[in-house]
Amino acid sequence: MQYLCERMQSYTEIDDWTWSELFKRQKELLGDMPCKEWAEGLKALELNPKTVPNQAAVSNKLEKLTGWKIFNAEKEFLNSDGWFSALSKKTFPATTYIRKKHELDFTPFPDLFHEYFGHLPLMGDAQTARITKLFAKCYFATQEKFRAGVGRLWWHAMEWSFVIEDGKEKVFGAGLLAGKRDFEDALQKPKIKFSLQEAFHSSKILNTVQEKYFIHKSLDDLEGMLQDYLQCQLNGEMPFEIARNFDSIDEIDSFRNRGV
Ligand SMILES: [Fe+2]
Repeated sequence: MQYLCERMQSYTEIDDWTWSELFKRQKELLGDMPCKEWAEGLKALELNPKTVPNQAAVSNKLEKLTGWKIFNAEKEFLNSDGWFSALSKKTFPATTYIRKKHELDFTPFPDLFHEYFGHLPLMGDAQTARITKLFAKCYFATQEKFRAGVGRLWWHAMEWSFVIEDGKEKVFGAGLLAGKRDFEDALQKPKIKFSLQEAFHSSKILNTVQEKYFIHKSLDDLEGMLQDYLQCQLNGEMPFEIARNFDSIDEIDSFRNRGV
């Protein structure tokens, strides 16, 4: 049996099984490791653990929480320009694609479980929503040749990071919140104190686990760093030195160009 979701996207009973299995397994695996912003956002969004979320319904809930809406990315894997452009309009891109049964532990392309379980609860938090908008401002305020660096900042700050809350290391990055393999890997590796300069120069690793994981002193600290970065861009300065061998090619573009 199939049923129709918003925008005529159809999901099967297998898709619902995949969603519910991922939801249950990941919730148990995470235990008390997620940051409080995510835990509160997950409750507020009231995602049904049993069925693939309805995009319009979740978007309405999100809008009531922080004024953000979901941007329907359909099955597109957005490049950095498309990604930050959506964020600049306070819309969060979410795909309609859900991984296959054999990809429960890892999928090379972010699927809707990554977006709805990993990112969107955090977007129900006012400060994370502000930080997200700030990223888009930083991206477009940066000279084009250095924008890949802002993409890398996002990657390390928002996808694969931890944050200290009440003296404890908590998970903040959406990739870790929604990924079994990556979460387990991250727990075993030492965390590096987040720095704009280091994250700006650290490549995105797309098809295997990350080499390193950053930890934020606090979300206030991250927000403050981004505000300072933005101010520097608006003044026509860089807040740190750019390495001579800076790679201006976005890893996601090269990934796409290889037809992956
Ligand atoms: Fe993501």
